[in-house]
Parts: sequence; structure tokens; C-alpha cells
Amino acid sequence: MDFKIGVLPGDGIGPEIVEQAIKVLKAVGEKYNHSFELTYAPVGATAIDQLGDPYPESTHEVCMNSDAVLFGAIGDPKYDNDPKAKVRPEQGLLAMRKKLGLYANIRPVTTFQSLIHKSPLRQDIVEGADFVVVRELTGGIYFGQPRGRTEDLKTAFDTCVYTVEEIDRILKLAYSYAEKRNKRLTVVDKANVLGTSRLWREVAQEMEKSYTDVETDYMFVDNAAMQLIQWPKKFDVMVTENMFGDILSDEASVITGSLGLLPSASVGTHTSVFEPIHGSYPQAAGKDIANPIATVLSAAMLLESLDLLEEAAAVRKAVDDSLEAKVVTEDIAEGKAYKTSEVGDWLAQNLLEPSLT
Ligand code: IPM
Ligand code: MG
Repeated sequence: MDFKIGVLPGDGIGPEIVEQAIKVLKAVGEKYNHSFELTYAPVGATAIDQLGDPYPESTHEVCMNSDAVLFGAIGDPKYDNDPKAKVRPEQGLLAMRKKLGLYANIRPVTTFQSLIHKSPLRQDIVEGADFVVVRELTGGIYFGQPRGRTEDLKTAFDTCVYTVEEIDRILKLAYSYAEKRNKRLTVVDKANVLGTSRLWREVAQEMEKSYTDVETDYMFVDNAAMQLIQWPKKFDVMVTENMFGDILSDEASVITGSLGLLPSASVGTHTSVFEPIHGSYPQAAGKDIANPIATVLSAAMLLESLDLLEEAAAVRKAVDDSLEAKVVTEDIAEGKAYKTSEVGDWLAQNLLEPSLT
């Protein structure tokens, strides 16, 4: 079959890690007889430098015309310490989420047997942990109006806004994941303090009645932050608002042992976007040392979204094999550390000619 894939490498290590996922996609295409038509487009600081806009209209069109989008990372330190910068790379990511209607970010957290000992948490705590964070992605304090500064610049403000519709659609999606998994849903909020959280809880308590096969529980975000680390195995699907989800999903990555291993999918109204959960890691850019696995696993999620289930399983197996064979980058290496590009080559080779790896 033919598929159109938008490729947005972005900044920092983005281009290097995306290149490895593309090697893997090409190998999948060759092995299973699919053609992936790749269209590259700039995003983030790269797009500001080229076109003055972190999410240019031309890039949006590429996304709208694709069956799925593979995204690397954005962010460049030259913008980080300039509070007056008019346009920031991160705005590109937020604009993309908003314009593509990507209201849900799905972040699965699983452990890899060969890496359990890499987690800073005790083995018996993390072994077997397997849950999904469903993060609301286009609402809340990231987008609410008004936001800004007073004229004297001495006061700054952001606004957290949620409508019933926004809460309703993300909860429905979270319930659909819970139904397919172990039928437990944890709704994370701060309903003891925030009005938006109380609305979340109200909507969830009503919806809970129509999902009798799913066990719903409610947890304040501070408590969830603690339980996630202490008893990660008790979670199945966790759903939460934008900023809580941002924080909790980074926290959850610790369970796996490296931020370089976790993929994500952003889904909603238009084309879905698949990206690693880590950032652009500018210190490593161009050094061929970044871990490409999170992006390769994002490509596996991309294949699943196209209903290429066998192909996705083959990619996951190749990743497991590479971890077993210790063909890994320096963040998780114990003996020899492989380069980013070597890991990508190995994975592609393993898919096409396993006997040679
Ligand atoms: C993420 C990132 C982004 C976010 C930043 C880069 C704007 O941390 O995708 O989790 O906060 O959503
Ligand atoms: Mg984040």
C-alpha cells in the first residue's frame, strides 16, 4: 500500500533521530511491500531561521495532506534565556497541536526487561509496570486567555480554561483505552483547589456511569506524582489535563530508565503526529550519540495508526532485539556505546536480514 508521511525533524537531535526512524520505515516498506512517500517540512527554530515562523503554513499543509506525521523535537537554547523573544520554537509545537486539533497525547509507559536495572527505582517496584498517560493537549493553561503582563511588567498571568466539550472528548478517549486494556481509569486533577479540575471531576463522575466495565478512580495530582513512583504497577490508564500531563509523563519516564525510550502519539481531529517524548537535547546535536529508540517506537505507533499491526510488531521486536544484543547508545550502554546512526542501521538490517545482525 501507499502512504504519505509528513516528516518534521525539527531542531537539535531531531534530524538525527528521525533519520533512524526513517531507515526503519524504509526497511518496513521493503519487507512488506509498502511505499512510504516522505515529505519533509521545517518546524521550530529551524523554521524560524528559514521562514520566520516556527510552524509555517507550508508545513501545516504538508501535515494536513499526510496520512501520518513523524516529528523529531523542537527547541533551541538561543531562545531560552531571552524573555523578550518575539517568537519561540515551542510556539510551533503548540500551533501545530492547535491547528491539527491534536487534543490527546498518548504516552505509553512500559519497561524493557533488559533495562530494568537502569531505572533509578528498585527493580521490584518497576518490573511489569505498564500504563498509559492520556494527556489533554490543546486546552488548559497552555492556551487559556487572557495571558501576558501588566503594563508595568511587574505582574504576569496565565489562565487555565476548560470547557465541558474539551473534557468530554478526552475522557471518552481515555475510557476507550481503558476498555481495551485492564479496565482501570485514574482521573488526575486538583479538584480541591481549581475550578477547572472540579469541572473535570463533574464530567468524569457523570461519564463513569456509562462505563460500568471500567473501574474509575480520582486522584489529586500531587498524590498521583507520589504514587506513580511508589506503586507504578497500580496504574492502567491515567487521564489528565495539559500541564499535569506534561509533568507526570516526564516523571513516568524515569520508570523506564531513560527518557530516550518513550514514544508518543498525538491524535485528534486531523492528521496524527508521532514523536518521542524527549526534547531537542541541543548539547548532543550533531554528535551522533542521541538514543533513537523513542523515535523508532513512535514510528511503530505510527504504523499501528495506519493499521499496519504486523509491521509495527516487527519494529518493536527489532527494538527488543537491539536492546538484548546491547546495540545501544551511550545513555543506556554498559559496555560499548553505539552511535545513533549505527543503532538505526542495525535496526533496519535486523528487519530485513535478521541473520546478519
Ligand atoms: C512536551 C514538551 C512541550 C510541552 C514543550 C516543548 C512546549 O515538554 O511535548 O511535553 O510542554 O508540551
Ligand atoms: Mg513535556
